[in-house]
Amino acid sequence: MTTSESWSPFSWKDRPNAQAVRYEDPAAVDAAVERLMSFPPLVTSWEIERLKAQLAEAQQGKRFLLQGGDCAETLADCTPSVITNKLKILLQMSLVLVHGGHKPVIRVGRFAGQYAKPRSKPTESRDGVELPSYYGDLVNRPDFDADARRTNPRLLIDAYEHAAMTLNFIRSLSDGGFADLHHPEYWDLSFVRHAAMPPALRELYEKSSRQLSEALHFMEALGETTIDELTRVDFFTSHEGLNLHYESAQTRRVPRRPGFYDLTTHLPWIGDRTRALDGAHVEFFRGIANPVGVKLGPKVAPDELLRLIDALNPTDEPGKLALIARMGASRVAEALPPLLEAVKRAERRVLWVCDPMHGNIQVTSTGVKTRDFDDILREIEGNFDAHASVGTHLGGVHFELTGDDVTECIGGGAGITEADLDKNYLTLCDPRLNYRQALEMGFRIAQRLSAGRA
Ligand code: PEP
Ligand code: CO
Repeated sequence: MTTSESWSPFSWKDRPNAQAVRYEDPAAVDAAVERLMSFPPLVTSWEIERLKAQLAEAQQGKRFLLQGGDCAETLADCTPSVITNKLKILLQMSLVLVHGGHKPVIRVGRFAGQYAKPRSKPTESRDGVELPSYYGDLVNRPDFDADARRTNPRLLIDAYEHAAMTLNFIRSLSDGGFADLHHPEYWDLSFVRHAAMPPALRELYEKSSRQLSEALHFMEALGETTIDELTRVDFFTSHEGLNLHYESAQTRRVPRRPGFYDLTTHLPWIGDRTRALDGAHVEFFRGIANPVGVKLGPKVAPDELLRLIDALNPTDEPGKLALIARMGASRVAEALPPLLEAVKRAERRVLWVCDPMHGNIQVTSTGVKTRDFDDILREIEGNFDAHASVGTHLGGVHFELTGDDVTECIGGGAGITEADLDKNYLTLCDPRLNYRQALEMGFRIAQRLSAGRA
């Protein structure tokens, strides 16, 4: 790959794409792209630059990143309650983390565009019937019938519209609609009282939530402005920049700023399956001014990582690059330190983020995809330990979670078991932490952040 070669929003088209979507009618794709090019942007360059500045501070250890949301966001879930619940859990987790880490938390949702999924197999078989896999609502539909699974460029437009509706509601809520969300009584801490909860943890959670609630009351007593400051919250958006038709159609120059911005989202990321150095995604991402994330699985080699950093951030721009490690609980101790060492030795500026979800998928004996709360926690602990041993710091966490009461991941204090999984298993892709599991995870990370301050 030669980064000096000329770049355009569409120069990725000449590069190999490990997850290229096969559309039957290229003219219909071109027509959809043209419409997307004519639509207003979903986000603005100044919001993107604000996020980049905050990420730069996180790289210096002055902020912490919390990124989370669905594995596969769906058009059907574009409803007020689903969106509100997602914001609620992200906000509450972030307050718990602020409390533990004593530093501001950058909230980034996997929402308003997380509609495209990479798949390991191009087809799915059920009862002897084989159909194309579901690639996310940006590409085809989840129902298991031939018509739904056909790729459909019209969905590029539908997804844009749903992203716009989602963002519109998020922006309204951020501007003051959170009046009740920060109230302690709005927090569902019932998991703390669950019989299976070990007493030491119960005590820890109760103490933290009591302190947090006192702090919130105190803030409130200081007057509306202050609590408004706290709760008129910034939420940034992110999604995997997988479908490059969608991304490039919204990538443009803006007045009075150099460069091209991908205006579908603030923080697009490259998935672990599409980070090939000579591939379409690295080609596209190297030309945009947004901060970008890159997922790193256990197979990435230190020198490959350094070449990726060179390609994506040749000038070592602050706040530009977030490296999202997703090694798996059992591999993190061996796989992560060599990468941390290499980046440290090369003196490159990155934000190290832990995705404790994607290396910890397991399939139950009845064929249900799940994740164990304890594995997720172990991977986070493994990240803190690896950073402590190398002398670098963990700057953020990346979760698949939902604000709703689903039963997709096992474990956690409220004790979801394999037998519970079919009670409310809704995800169309990977299993998510539910509200209580996510909040509990927040408390556990906060505990570690607060120990790091001591
Ligand atoms: C994801 O974040 O949903 C995903 C597919 O992750 P990864 O690229 O790390 O496998
Ligand atoms: Co996922």
